[in-house]
Amino acid sequence: MFLLFLQVFAICSLVAAAPSRRANYVVHERRAAEPVAWMKTRRLGGHNVLPLRVGLAQQNLHELEDLLMSIAHPDSPTYGQHWSPERVAAHFSPSEDTISTVKDWLTTEGFRGDRIRVSPSKGWIDVNATVSEIESLLNTEYHVYTHPSGHEQISCESYSLPDHIREHVELIKPTVHFVHRVPDDPALLRKRSKTHLGAPTQSSGPKTNGATVTEPMTLTNCDRFTTPECLRRLYSINYKPAAPQLNSYGIVEFTPQAYLANDLNLFFRTFFKNQTQTRPKLVSIDGGVVQQKTKSFSYNGESDLDLEYAMGLTDPTPLYLLQTGDLVEGAGFDNWLDAVDGSFCTFDGGDDPTQDGIYPDTRPGGYNKPESCGIIKPPNVVSISYSQDESTATEHYAIRQCNEYGKLGMMGSTVLYSSGDFGVAGNGGVCLNANGQPVPSGGTKFNPSFPATCPFVTAVGATQINPGSTVQDPESACETVIYSGGGFSNIFPMPSYQGSAVSNYLVNHPPPYSAKQYNNSGTVRAYPDLSANGANYVVIIDGKLELVYGTSASAPVVGSIFTLINDARLAHGKGPIGFINPLIYNPLFSSLFHDITKGNNPGCGTPGFSTAKGWDPVTGVGTPNTTLLLTKFLSLP
Ligand SMILES: *[C@@H]1O[C@H](CO)[C@@H](O)[C@H](O)[C@H]1NC(C)=O
Ligand SMILES: *[C@@H]1O[C@H](CO)[C@@H](O)[C@H](O)[C@H]1NC(C)=O
Ligand SMILES: *[C@@H]1O[C@H](CO)[C@@H](O)[C@H](O)[C@H]1NC(C)=O
Ligand SMILES: *[C@@H]1O[C@H](CO)[C@@H](O)[C@H](O)[C@H]1NC(C)=O
Repeated sequence: MFLLFLQVFAICSLVAAAPSRRANYVVHERRAAEPVAWMKTRRLGGHNVLPLRVGLAQQNLHELEDLLMSIAHPDSPTYGQHWSPERVAAHFSPSEDTISTVKDWLTTEGFRGDRIRVSPSKGWIDVNATVSEIESLLNTEYHVYTHPSGHEQISCESYSLPDHIREHVELIKPTVHFVHRVPDDPALLRKRSKTHLGAPTQSSGPKTNGATVTEPMTLTNCDRFTTPECLRRLYSINYKPAAPQLNSYGIVEFTPQAYLANDLNLFFRTFFKNQTQTRPKLVSIDGGVVQQKTKSFSYNGESDLDLEYAMGLTDPTPLYLLQTGDLVEGAGFDNWLDAVDGSFCTFDGGDDPTQDGIYPDTRPGGYNKPESCGIIKPPNVVSISYSQDESTATEHYAIRQCNEYGKLGMMGSTVLYSSGDFGVAGNGGVCLNANGQPVPSGGTKFNPSFPATCPFVTAVGATQINPGSTVQDPESACETVIYSGGGFSNIFPMPSYQGSAVSNYLVNHPPPYSAKQYNNSGTVRAYPDLSANGANYVVIIDGKLELVYGTSASAPVVGSIFTLINDARLAHGKGPIGFINPLIYNPLFSSLFHDITKGNNPGCGTPGFSTAKGWDPVTGVGTPNTTLLLTKFLSLP
């Protein structure tokens, strides 16, 4: 997924460190890349008041992976003992020592106690201060930058903190991040609202090639028409929910993407002989609406696909549609996370205006109400068929968000993301140049997909039934219309749970590429984790049967399978499965997946990676056998 207002600025020059005028001050953050095309035009007047926000350092984040493993690893004595949201929030929130140290420092610097406010989540300290006060406090200078379009922003190149304060502060806004408006300039606000209008998000799929259904769909032509019945046979899905009232399944969609009720009706009638008008339970996040004004494949394809298959396979389990973002500004991944975890809204500085929707949205027609924080308990399984290229995310943004997925795992949720549809390339086939920057053409470096590269999500790749084959034959990596996203992160280190699987691949099936194309050190996160069919899905979109392709289809199908497994566990008085990666890479589980050993994921002018025996960066550990997984998961505590 991209936000239209997300602009990635290329690196042009490094900023020299400002010499420190104050004793014991150390540069805390410095802008690494100067925004291209912006001119530093003038000093910002010292009388201007800025809302200074000090993001406090969280406690215990370094323990996150170990804590998650102690809950999610089958060998752990505390397997399955999920934490309550309150316990998770308390464990990671800033310490009292951090809060009082930063408050004392501000008081010493002349800010009276009644000007200092600690946010309810204790994630940050707010104070309104003049530019002169802040320049002295942070030993910095603020400038106004002007774009040829007339657009203006304020920023400083670096800022400093006393040495003893640094360990207590994650970051301070507004400072070096190049996203801050000049205060109180209504003309500027209007300009921004214009550029922000329109469809803000784009899914990583699904795709259609315009083909349609030309003959009766039966189990003998699943190689051409994937139906719910084909998937049931392929993955041995024959479990009827026994405890739906205890269970929950969430599907995230970003407005203006929307389902059409008549499409769901027709799908359930066609494939389930079901005349009942079944609807998802709408959870409106930050003004999320199921818009009905604009109808087309690109507005309805993703939602119709996700809901038709997820609801069809898990009925009558309650399906929550997490419809995220208003029609004006739209939203990013952090917005749905805010809605399922109230403490995330402000955690570590809060949402990032270059990547997320910022609510309230004051633009005409915007959702001008407080952002949705903690409005719903995280569903047991959440499937998201949207992605952005990892190269377009700042490290700070990606890591902050990834830690949240780890926390959701600790609370017992399984979070699935599609791995992308462009093989080793990014969305739209974009690759990177030697400096790791996305370039429209000619890039030779692979461009991995986020959040798939976050080690705390489960990334789902795509397979296909080969032409002329049946549901009984082995599948291949998907090479029809789309290629399964897969590869190696440029941000995240390798989690322990996949160490031996990935090193088996790199050692026994070494890819014919160098470190110039991907990080081949064997020390970074590799994806996807598993896969499911992503070709020839029969979907009803705008009243018509359409054939649809993409990891967008694979993710909700895998989510449905794990939702059914949760049902069985809940019916037996056990907890939901939560974060599954440490299990699916475990040797105890390898025979429960169909290993995929044919096919590649081309991109960036290469054949991409090859599938192989065992885990591979095309199809992960393979496709699920639900019957076998169900028995295994039921045997766990
Ligand atoms: C800062 O000023 C704004 C606008 O007057 C106000 O709404 C906000 O509560 C103030 N914040 C603090 C921490 O005083
Ligand atoms: C899944 O496992 C069951 C139990 O071993 C087996 O009967 C079934 O054929 C397997 N399904 C597939 C599609 O291979
Ligand atoms: C099918 O029909 C039943 C009523 O017989 C209903 O409860 C269920 O939710 C319907 N929906 C789907 C998707 O099968
Ligand atoms: C690969 O990742 C490792 C670990 O993060 C890092 O030290 C190394 O510099 C990376 N290599 C390249 C070529 O980016």
